[in-house]
Amino acid sequence: MAIHHPSFGTLDDNRIIFFDTTLRDGEQSPGFSMNLEEKLRMAEALAELGVDVIEAGFAIASPGDFESVQSIARKFAKDGPVVASLGRANPADILRSAEALKPAARKRIHIVLATSELHMRVKLRMSPEEVLDLTTSSVALGRQHSDDVEWSAEDGSRSDPDFLCRCVEAAIKAGATTINIPDTVGYSMPEDMARIFRDLRNRVPGIEKVILSAHNHNDLGMAVANTVAAIQAGVRQIESTINGIGERAGNASLEEVAMALRTRRDALPYTNNIVSQKLLKTSKLLATITGFDVQPNKAIVGRNAFAHESGIHQDGVLKDASTYEIMTPESVGWTKNSLVLGKHSGRAAFRDKLSALGYTVGDNQLNDAFRRFKDLADRKKVVYDEDVVALVDDEVVRA
Ligand code: KIV
Ligand code: ZN
Repeated sequence: MAIHHPSFGTLDDNRIIFFDTTLRDGEQSPGFSMNLEEKLRMAEALAELGVDVIEAGFAIASPGDFESVQSIARKFAKDGPVVASLGRANPADILRSAEALKPAARKRIHIVLATSELHMRVKLRMSPEEVLDLTTSSVALGRQHSDDVEWSAEDGSRSDPDFLCRCVEAAIKAGATTINIPDTVGYSMPEDMARIFRDLRNRVPGIEKVILSAHNHNDLGMAVANTVAAIQAGVRQIESTINGIGERAGNASLEEVAMALRTRRDALPYTNNIVSQKLLKTSKLLATITGFDVQPNKAIVGRNAFAHESGIHQDGVLKDASTYEIMTPESVGWTKNSLVLGKHSGRAAFRDKLSALGYTVGDNQLNDAFRRFKDLADRKKVVYDEDVVALVDDEVVRA
């Protein structure tokens, strides 16, 4: 069933909204803070990537955060993504977000309030009834300043299901247009995620009028799996970050969720606005800005994501790349895959490398050079082009 949303108009039921929180939750990774100019560059890249909502910061956190949210709001004063600012459920935070967001063409006030027994008792020191009342009053205040209000149940995945339903119902009645259930500490498993959202959809009156959102942390390495499970259970907004940066072990990685949606359309028949060819570029921009590269084996954007080392794989890829690649490197912004020479590499890849380097070899020369290559590869982790040239240079003729 289509849904009407103040920022997006009529949304088909199969449309997934990408909410990017690289500049807020991502920036909360130790050592990843960004200055204003860097945030503006990231915001531009995120808009080009096609994200629907940019969470620009936590306006009340510091004068610098306020300025960043306001500058990003100014950048998108005419059009562009919805700009969001996070705040706690109190008037000062909400009013500060509203002030910073004023210039944006489309703005979202994002309010977070913890709902788990542990957080309410230890951190908030509030009773469940007080949290319920605060949900209502804070969302109502947010709605006086923006018709797009997101309410997040912090530690929602560890909250009592009955109480969570009551809070969500109160938030909807007070005017929330997006309901986000974060797995704040990355504790959930995919089945838990699916159950939480199915439960809300079955039990909360008015739930069909709002967009449900998932926000998963990666403490058990399940943020992306949990996000996919949430989508399958009816969530239509996913919150993620570039390169999966975020508090502690990070958030669901945007590039992985986007490519799961694109690669597994059979299981995930949904649409979205992400321009997948820009994923690598955006990932690299963030790495340059923060000084933190992704690990080589990071899905989609890691340097080994499309590199093949073993002989069996290289032989297959040379015949038809789809033998060992479930998406094309070009579809995420790489120019091509790479066959890396190492001790597991085979003759086919070695011959291919020689020919790429401009060498033509006969069978005997190939056998000889290949034997010497294997000896070398046993001693070196990676055999570079220069090593191959040194192995064959005097023996064969350049094409
Ligand atoms: O992880 C979390 O609970 C959050 C909320 C502020 C949405 O980041
Ligand atoms: Zn978070």
